[in-house]
Amino acid sequence: MSASDLHFDGEFPIVIEGLTNAFGDFVVHDEIDLKVRRGEILGVVGGSGTGKSVLMRSIIGLQIPRCGSIEVFGQDIVAAEPDEVIGVRNRWGVLFQGGALFSTLTVGENVQVPLKQFYPELEPVLLDEIARYKTVMTGLPAEAASKYPSELSGGMKKRAGLARALALDPELLFLDEPTAGLDPIGAANFDELTRELTDTLGLTVFLITHDLDTLYAICDRVAVLADKKVIGVGTIPELLQSDHPWIQEYFNGPRARAAVASRDRGNRAKGMDKHSDREA
Ligand SMILES: Nc1ncnc2c1ncn2[C@@H]1O[C@H](COP(=O)(O)OP(=O)(O)OP(=O)(O)O)[C@@H](O)[C@H]1O
Ligand SMILES: [Mg+2]
Repeated sequence: MSASDLHFDGEFPIVIEGLTNAFGDFVVHDEIDLKVRRGEILGVVGGSGTGKSVLMRSIIGLQIPRCGSIEVFGQDIVAAEPDEVIGVRNRWGVLFQGGALFSTLTVGENVQVPLKQFYPELEPVLLDEIARYKTVMTGLPAEAASKYPSELSGGMKKRAGLARALALDPELLFLDEPTAGLDPIGAANFDELTRELTDTLGLTVFLITHDLDTLYAICDRVAVLADKKVIGVGTIPELLQSDHPWIQEYFNGPRARAAVASRDRGNRAKGMDKHSDREA
């Protein structure tokens, strides 16, 4: 049985304990703990430079921590040998900050990169088929598979990046600032797509964002990075119980109020409150 046949049925696909990340003397994370629940969209927020991307990179094994442990699907990522990590690497998909599509490859070819890496035996015709399917799944027209990134709008590029992140049918999805640079409607559409795919495919999502609308609209819980720590994790109403100034300023400021109003308008327009459990 291959690793992809094993579906994680534990409660926490990601468990981080006592994680310290540092560059020389510069400590980014100081013994942080965080658990990500299966099936949730966990929003990860914090000021610029608080280490959101570094945290994601350490979970996917691209950043070696100074100390602490990170388990993904029960596999220790820090202490494991590289060939042990391969078994879990094909169970996550990543949309890096900025998208990072290969500009010399078409969208379809971009989606095929992880497929070829993990399943080199796949026939070209099947690779094309899967790439086209993943492309359409993210709301792009099938023709987009044969376009180069330079021929796409910002929103389309994000969807193409998502198609590549979904190439291996992951259980776990990492999205680093997926709506940055999109107009509000494009961002809201992308959020809706993320929520739909999460629910339909049974994904767990680690979603780094600055976008308050995204947090209110689709995140089940939010983790807040500040002072080199995870200073809070919970639903937004739970976080609001904290008197940490950053949390208060962020979730009680005018932009947060605008995000709540926008979510409520969206819910009224749909004639339902689909995610009422995420009420603020
Ligand atoms: N490879 C590296 N070498 C040295 N310092 C780094 C490296 N990568 C990140 N850093 C530093 O670590 C800190 C955290 O960076 P990170 O990219 O995780 O921030 P972030 O929270 O994602 O910020 P943003 O919201 O702007 O994306 C920053 O001060 C950054 O300069
Ligand atoms: Mg970042």
